[in-house]
Amino acid sequence: MVCLGNICRSPLAEGILRHKIKQHKLNWEVASAGTGGYHTGEAPHKLSQKVALYNGIDISGQCARQFEASDMLSYDYIYVMDASNYQDVKRMSGRSWDPSKTDLLLNELYPGQHRGVPDPWYGGEEGYHEVFELIDKACDNIILKFKA
Ligand code: 4NP
Repeated sequence: MVCLGNICRSPLAEGILRHKIKQHKLNWEVASAGTGGYHTGEAPHKLSQKVALYNGIDISGQCARQFEASDMLSYDYIYVMDASNYQDVKRMSGRSWDPSKTDLLLNELYPGQHRGVPDPWYGGEEGYHEVFELIDKACDNIILKFKA
């Protein structure tokens, strides 16, 4: 799960998908990263933590890191939050770039529409709730799509 800062959107996506993986007793690994390194080492944004916990998910132990080309090889699927994340991941992956395993997360909710998860960074708490709902529904579809 990849966004820009790895403190607002992708930490929610990591926590939400991990929660569902546990609920469905699946043996999947999930991680998140930011295309930017400005927040490396930081915990998720306070409002991402608050909204996750409001929905029964504790993401306080997660730690921001920057996306690296090896992630493209290490993971079966790379979900990006918006179109600029997609371009950055493509550029940063270099020779490892694999478009067949990279997609916008919301294409799992709105197939073929190429919608982005809005960045809640510049707004208030309501934006984080909206983002939670979008990611939650997309992750439900990921579970349905890939579970055996
Ligand atoms: P995120 O949000 O990509 O969802 O983690 C942002 C976090 C930090 C910044 C921008 C977006 N920033 O400019 O520092």
